[in-house]
Amino acid sequence: MPESVEAQVESLLAKMTLREKVGQMHQATNSGSLDPDQIRQGLVGSVIGATSAYAGNDKQERMVAAHLNAIQKIAVEESRLGIPILVARDVIHGHRAVCPIPLGQAASWSPELVEKGAEVAAREARADGIHWTFTPMLDIARDPRWGRVAEGFGEDPFLAACLAKAAVRGYQGDDLRDPERILACAKHYLGYGAAEGGRDYNTAEISESTLRNIYMPSFRAAVDAGVATVMAAFNEIGGVPVTSSRHLLTDVLKTEWGMDGVVVSDWRAVGELVEHGVAADLKDAAYLGIHAGVDVDMQSEAFMRYAEELVTEGRLPVEEIDEAVRRILRLKFRLGLFERPYTDESLAAEVHLRPDHLQAAQELATKAVVLLKNDPPRGNGRQPWETWSGNASVVGKGPLLPLTKAGQTYAVVGPMADVTDALYGTWTLDALAEDAATLRAEIAAKVGTSADPHGLQLLDEGIANSRWSDVVIAVLGESPVRSGEDNALTSIELPAGQIEFLESLRKIGKPIVAVVVAGRPLILTRVMELADAVVWSFHPGIRGGAAIADVLFGDANPSGKLPITFPRETGQVPIYYNHKRTGRPLPKDDNRTRYIDTSDEPLLPFGYGLSYTKFAYSDLVVQTVGDGQFSVSATVENVGSVAGEEIVQLYIRDDVSTYTRPVKELKGFTRVALPAGAAETVNFTLGPNELGYYVPGAGWQVEPGTFQVWVGPHSQAGLQSSLTVG
Ligand code: GLC
Repeated sequence: MPESVEAQVESLLAKMTLREKVGQMHQATNSGSLDPDQIRQGLVGSVIGATSAYAGNDKQERMVAAHLNAIQKIAVEESRLGIPILVARDVIHGHRAVCPIPLGQAASWSPELVEKGAEVAAREARADGIHWTFTPMLDIARDPRWGRVAEGFGEDPFLAACLAKAAVRGYQGDDLRDPERILACAKHYLGYGAAEGGRDYNTAEISESTLRNIYMPSFRAAVDAGVATVMAAFNEIGGVPVTSSRHLLTDVLKTEWGMDGVVVSDWRAVGELVEHGVAADLKDAAYLGIHAGVDVDMQSEAFMRYAEELVTEGRLPVEEIDEAVRRILRLKFRLGLFERPYTDESLAAEVHLRPDHLQAAQELATKAVVLLKNDPPRGNGRQPWETWSGNASVVGKGPLLPLTKAGQTYAVVGPMADVTDALYGTWTLDALAEDAATLRAEIAAKVGTSADPHGLQLLDEGIANSRWSDVVIAVLGESPVRSGEDNALTSIELPAGQIEFLESLRKIGKPIVAVVVAGRPLILTRVMELADAVVWSFHPGIRGGAAIADVLFGDANPSGKLPITFPRETGQVPIYYNHKRTGRPLPKDDNRTRYIDTSDEPLLPFGYGLSYTKFAYSDLVVQTVGDGQFSVSATVENVGSVAGEEIVQLYIRDDVSTYTRPVKELKGFTRVALPAGAAETVNFTLGPNELGYYVPGAGWQVEPGTFQVWVGPHSQAGLQSSLTVG
């Protein structure tokens, strides 16, 4: 009977010197310049493939199996105990077959496709010798000025929790010994998305109630799904940096939630306890980090330099070192690294960009496309009663999309029409621009060279071209270099010049489809006014051009829904659907607004997205089924003329509670695929997990009273009923 993992851990731990134990807690950077002697002495427990603190937007060193095998060989064959090194990398939303950015994946509302995307990323990364990825990012984000909103699953705890479980399953599978799986990392625990002003790394002031009910659920879901590692966040909460918070890292995460894996600091975050002003020096920082529950110190070298000294001088109990090393060894044994430390160097060529990987990336990108507007095309604006060019088939009664592939020409114009790298989005360290196709190329593949017959690229040339075409496809948006880490904006308007460009196109009087590609919500107020149809895609990944082209020309019927609120003005931020009522909510029939210079309402609400068909909701029935459980059912009918998919959403509101509760909370969703004319009854269950919430000082509570229940197409619409908890 082979020894259990725990027995193997204890047996190895007993053989280790204090210095070797501390070595396991050190994560070196820049595998290209590791010191072989440090490896031989067993002082490098893991290495991250990154040469800078801003890996998200810097092309980093390449990670290839041959190079990593060489490092591993020193550790395994030339060190005293032969403990393999864990290789880590930010494989955030794909390795070579890159999927949409996580915010885009959330727009698919598809745990199945998110899991598939993570599985593909794990297989491709492992083939390059990577064992550990620093994803999924589970930070709830309510402020799109914060560049890292791109990397998470949006504003809602329930949706983020569902996708967290899916991502962990995808990366880790059921058994970490599977040579196609890697360690996942729930990050950045905790409250990082609440940075004041959207300024990265900034202070987060979060009450216990909000921490528990908004920011923790996605991390708890990942822990319950068995996530192997958790990354401590850079920020402080209420005066305590997370990296030195024993309450959050040990009492809650490890003790209350039972997380038995590894807590890794963020880049140099242990050292930054000095900058935070809670540590006098790096040695003090090392003590605070280890005592709080950080097991692996990424890059700061605080543990490597001072942990041994802290123990020998009696300030740090060796048991705290042992507990950290136990967790690190546990993961290495679970991964099977001791039996199989090396990577088959022929694997990458077979695995990278496999057709099924590209298919998975394209399917996820397609389901993530959100149709925001689809009106009939307007006339030429000069003589509105006049149809121009006599081509009634374009200025018809029906919505502008989907476009026809024959019989009309298209001007594909705008700054995002000819990009490939920018389609990938932020945090794509190993993606290659040449592996992706531009949206222009994908449109031309459908309609031939009639897409932009003149092939001119400059914005003014694009305007000129539009005169010769029947329909204008204006491709706008934001470069990834404006999103991701340390890219906060004071204004989330489209980049300079794009609205003016669209206004110039509008004057020409042709039907306009605006395609917007970005890493965060942008202010689309003018875009929605100027364009006849608006198609939204968060940076869609390697097959994003094909996905958007499929939607534009009807080869795919869009079903994406917004995972985050789109403001009307930057000044409304933070604005999110699950806000509190306050003591002065404006009655629906009261036409005042709290702002005197704009509406209080968002431009586009959480959960919003259109289809080429239409869905009708009826027969909402809420019934108690006993034991604190309630059944909720409703009928959804496709009342349009084409088949389509609808993401049906279930929301509740707790009418009276000890702590104030949100005006609405997502508590269920399901995707229904319906042919034209077909209907389906969807069923949900509401029980203690959905109706309860965390009450500070009392834990999870389901409080008696009435709850409102909605089933509908997004957070601002739907059928309403209620239930009563006895
Ligand atoms: C960065 C990020 C973190 C990333 C780590 C390693 O600063 O905050 O998300 O995983 O450092 O690159």
